[in-house]
Amino acid sequence: MATAFGGPEVVEIREVDLGEPGDGMVLVEVRAAGVNPIDYKLYSGAFGTDSSRLPMPLGAEASGVVLAVGANADGPAGPVSVGDEVIVLADGAYAERIIAPAGSVLPKPASLDWAEAASYLLTAATAWDIVELSGVGEGDCVLIHGASGSVGSQAVQLAVHRGAQVIGTASPRNLDAVRALGAVAVPYGDGLLDRVRTAAPDGVDVALDTVGTDEAVDVSLALVEDRTRIVTIAAFGRAADEGFPSVGGGNAESAARRERARLTLLDLAGSVVTVTIAAKYPLDEAARAHRELGTNHPRGKYVLEP
Ligand SMILES: NC(=O)c1ccc[n+]([C@@H]2O[C@H](COP(=O)([O-])OP(=O)(O)OC[C@H]3O[C@@H](n4cnc5c(N)ncnc54)[C@H](OP(=O)(O)O)[C@@H]3O)[C@@H](O)[C@H]2O)c1
Repeated sequence: MATAFGGPEVVEIREVDLGEPGDGMVLVEVRAAGVNPIDYKLYSGAFGTDSSRLPMPLGAEASGVVLAVGANADGPAGPVSVGDEVIVLADGAYAERIIAPAGSVLPKPASLDWAEAASYLLTAATAWDIVELSGVGEGDCVLIHGASGSVGSQAVQLAVHRGAQVIGTASPRNLDAVRALGAVAVPYGDGLLDRVRTAAPDGVDVALDTVGTDEAVDVSLALVEDRTRIVTIAAFGRAADEGFPSVGGGNAESAARRERARLTLLDLAGSVVTVTIAAKYPLDEAARAHRELGTNHPRGKYVLEP
């Protein structure tokens, strides 16, 4: 839990009595919890410092085994039963056990191990959201900023799957990984606009920004004529100012689109859309994982293991 607003030093382990799962609820023994940038942004103060949110349970996705169910424990894929191997999308996923609404409990695909299953669905649904909203289709040329990142790499895979030609930006050390996903890889930084123009001589139809820098936004605006086909998950201020869509951050349409995509994404897991694990940490080293995620450029996800 985060016991205050601040840096990773405010993260502590706390004992909580969970009790039994009530109506529509499910108790899950966590095998792995996925780490996402939003986990530390929420207690950083970037989204306000309302003290009623403290202490703040951390984490939003986990994998594990169902230990007990309340009445009416129906999930998106049907009734949830004791012993099911599942993915849980719920607040407080950094835990040994979690009680979550059955609606947030989905079957773990056999194609993913525990760490991968705990790290898959939030980013894959975000990637789906931006690919879907921008209408990526056969023959489109799609520029993806942050193609080596968790959301970006899955957006590359979904766009390639739809028959698009993809150009992905990354740091020099991650370019090979972006190429391996089926994209043309270009390093971000000074001169990006010229490098993308060279890689896409016939023009760029869609730009998906998973980074949020002015560089990513400026290059997207310079290349893509139709602003409805520029979508960002991070540059909310620029999107509002310049009149192109952003997703996430409490956007109801975006949340509904992601929810509708979950079962499809489970079918695509491990084949069309993969997840890479960069490092595993014991649960009690969550603060270290946050410190490193905020400063390193890991190629893949950090995972906590109880
Ligand atoms: N709106 C939403 O619903 C939503 C959902 C999920 C995530 N997010 C946000 O989206 C962002 C990405 O999330 P993620 O989980 O994909 O993060 P991530 O795995 O850490 O990926 C970050 C990506 O950004 C690239 N990058 C880092 N610094 C850059 C720079 N100066 N210029 C260009 N690219 C740079 C990285 O490339 P290298 O590693 O190769 O340097 C990497 O590809 C985060 O800000 C996160 O909070 C928003």
